[in-house]
Amino acid sequence: MSQATQSVCSPEQAHEKVTQSQSKPAPPSILVIFGGAGDLTKRLLIPSIYNLQAAGLLPDEFAIIGVARADKDDASFRADLTEEIKSFATTKLDEAVWKKLIDKIYYLRGNFDEAPTFEALKTRLDEIEKKHNTGKSRLFYLATGADYFPKVVDLLGQSDMVKQEEGVWRRVIVEKPFGTDLASAEALNKSLLAVLEENQIYRIDHYLGKETVQNILVFRFANGLFEPLWNNRYVDSVQITVVESVGVENRGNYYDHSGALRDMVPNHLFQLLTMTAMEPPTSFQPDAVRGEKAKVLQAIHPLTEEQVRTQTVRGQYGAGTLRGSEIVEYRKSPKVNPESETETYVAMKLMIDNWRWAGVPFYLRTGKCLPNKNSEIVITFKKAPISLFSGEDVGELQANNLILHIQPDEGISLEFGAKIPGPKVKLSGVEMDFNYRDYFGQSTSTGYETLIYDCMIGDATLFQRADNTELGWKVVDPMLKLWQKEKSDFPNYAAGSNGPAAADELLARDGRAWRPIK
Ligand code: BG6
Repeated sequence: MSQATQSVCSPEQAHEKVTQSQSKPAPPSILVIFGGAGDLTKRLLIPSIYNLQAAGLLPDEFAIIGVARADKDDASFRADLTEEIKSFATTKLDEAVWKKLIDKIYYLRGNFDEAPTFEALKTRLDEIEKKHNTGKSRLFYLATGADYFPKVVDLLGQSDMVKQEEGVWRRVIVEKPFGTDLASAEALNKSLLAVLEENQIYRIDHYLGKETVQNILVFRFANGLFEPLWNNRYVDSVQITVVESVGVENRGNYYDHSGALRDMVPNHLFQLLTMTAMEPPTSFQPDAVRGEKAKVLQAIHPLTEEQVRTQTVRGQYGAGTLRGSEIVEYRKSPKVNPESETETYVAMKLMIDNWRWAGVPFYLRTGKCLPNKNSEIVITFKKAPISLFSGEDVGELQANNLILHIQPDEGISLEFGAKIPGPKVKLSGVEMDFNYRDYFGQSTSTGYETLIYDCMIGDATLFQRADNTELGWKVVDPMLKLWQKEKSDFPNYAAGSNGPAAADELLARDGRAWRPIK
């Protein structure tokens, strides 16, 4: 993340600032993508590397090697990427920029779990590094299935490709999932750390690539106004919502073994939770930030079996209608077990046992086949202590909500009460709105640009440390265990509805309600 400067500007001036705020190119290096022929590479990695190239953030001394099993060579790999970028580029393709990049992209065919692939990779790296003058720094991106992570890292170690020395860095980017429960996350970290130093491992959570997520810390810690109110004296409750209208689509194979809890909570939702709840770090250095996030996860009150029953809700969608289309039930989706007990929805109430947040419930929910795609964090402030306005008792006064709109309508809004013009004092809820698009234009980022660039410059602030991943699993482990033991009432919500009734009851018991899914 680059440094920020702050002065109030008009939307027009803000547009200017976006163009001027570019950083300098990353240092020379070579990027090796394991899983080079896969979906992630063509949909997100190559388009974001193209965006970095277009923004002048890649050095001239740079190259890419895609490694995969598919039967391709340099020429056919380049031809395929040239075709695919037409669909996946986030801006109009500039042929000159693409030509400059594609001439530096190579392909190596091989199995990720066989030593000869790594011997061949070593030879190719030597050749390509010389040709493009990239020096000896290397970035290995594991865009493979999670089963391969330990093996690939082990073979990288055995073939002596990850040793660092003065002026030469070797880094490994690992995509989620980081395990499937606490025990497997610990085992994965152990196997990575047997070969690599912690400072060589960049665990990606793509939510941290979103501008609105990075902005949570700027909003909280670069403004004097909100932080004094950001605690249990003034905050009534917090809601974190990450819901989607899409269903399982063609990902049944993965999703039916994962479910909504593993897929979204210990990673994306806990990033939003920790950034909302953490203390100000002593600096913006990676370990200062990650240390504060770890403290929040450590302070989450561990749930007993009984609390899992009363404070969490799981759901699975049945057939329904979404925007006029018939949606087939989850259990009838491709590659899903017809008797699946996998949840496609979760809601929970978590309490954070520390001075700042004691007594403030954090309600989290995420799910598929809900009415809209929407991610937001709602901070609900306590109501005014008495009402001075006749006819409006305190119970009827609206609470002030501060809403951080993460996506798709990126922005921040503040809801408060105002007098309706007229001779009588009557109140109405109104809204003050900041919208990213108005100020900074439509984003053309895939969300991976900052993350890849940060890894190339060695800034790990936006990546998860081993303990962060394990602490996240520790919080959800009791839910996984109980749900495995106890039969569900699935399917318990219709596709296109707001989710299971039990999720509404969870908040109703506390005298609260979810903010409607917009
Ligand atoms: C992924 C999950 O990590 O995040 C998907 O595996 C989910 O199931 C996706 O759809 C949501 O990401 P975004 O950026 O679209 O909110």
